[in-house]
Amino acid sequence: MKTTLENTPLSQEQARFYNENGFLSVPCLTDETELKIMRTAYDRIFAEKAGRDEGNEFDLAGGDVDNKQAALPQILNPAKYAPELRDTKAEAAAREIAQQLLCPDGSEKVVGGPAHAILKPAFHGAITPWHQDEAYWDPKMNPRSISIWMPLQEATLENGCMQFIPGSHKLEILPHQSIGKDPRVHGLEICEPNDIDFSKAVPCPIPAGGATLHPGRTLHYAGSNNSPEPRRALIFGFSLPPIPREDDRRFVWNEIKKTARSKRAETAKNTL
Ligand code: NI
Repeated sequence: MKTTLENTPLSQEQARFYNENGFLSVPCLTDETELKIMRTAYDRIFAEKAGRDEGNEFDLAGGDVDNKQAALPQILNPAKYAPELRDTKAEAAAREIAQQLLCPDGSEKVVGGPAHAILKPAFHGAITPWHQDEAYWDPKMNPRSISIWMPLQEATLENGCMQFIPGSHKLEILPHQSIGKDPRVHGLEICEPNDIDFSKAVPCPIPAGGATLHPGRTLHYAGSNNSPEPRRALIFGFSLPPIPREDDRRFVWNEIKKTARSKRAETAKNTL
């Protein structure tokens, strides 16, 4: 991979904006031909609830009850169920961007791919509340990662585009809780009260196949889908090995979680 500044996928100005603000929008990772194939595969796996038995398909924002419509359907590792989502042009472009931002001199190579998919069906009310992704992860590690959120159709304020708090990637992890303070819910939200000035939030509408980028600490949110079309987002995750922390940080909100999803994952593991 070329790593001189002239040949990197992002301009110096874009990389500087990302490092300073903790997010960035890019207009195009792939073309409509590939997006069409990806949309078909994406819709198929959500219709099939692919991976449900393994705990990979679940309701991010609700009680995750079998045979009930999910508040916020999510599939982890979607390419396991839809090979059309793997090794795409979009993934290659996302990887190059991640490499540039995480290790521009190329001395370490990023790993990752399509990490999860979050669907907001047409006219669907669930929001993705404000959170930091690192709050889901191992508290003993400082991650070196980037999430690249790509909508398979245009993302607008109306259908739930991403929103970010500039500079919040410089914060430590704020106290989180399961959404609605219900430990049966997998999804997390930051606790209130907090000192965040939400009037500073920046919505990032982008075209189909564009992307927003953020590291694990940036506070982000996505509104509900008030449009007549599904809002499909595919999220690529890329990382370098995390750095162990010296302290004994704990994420109590994960320790007390009791989700139907983790029960299904456990059962699937035990029956292998
Ligand atoms: Ni997130």
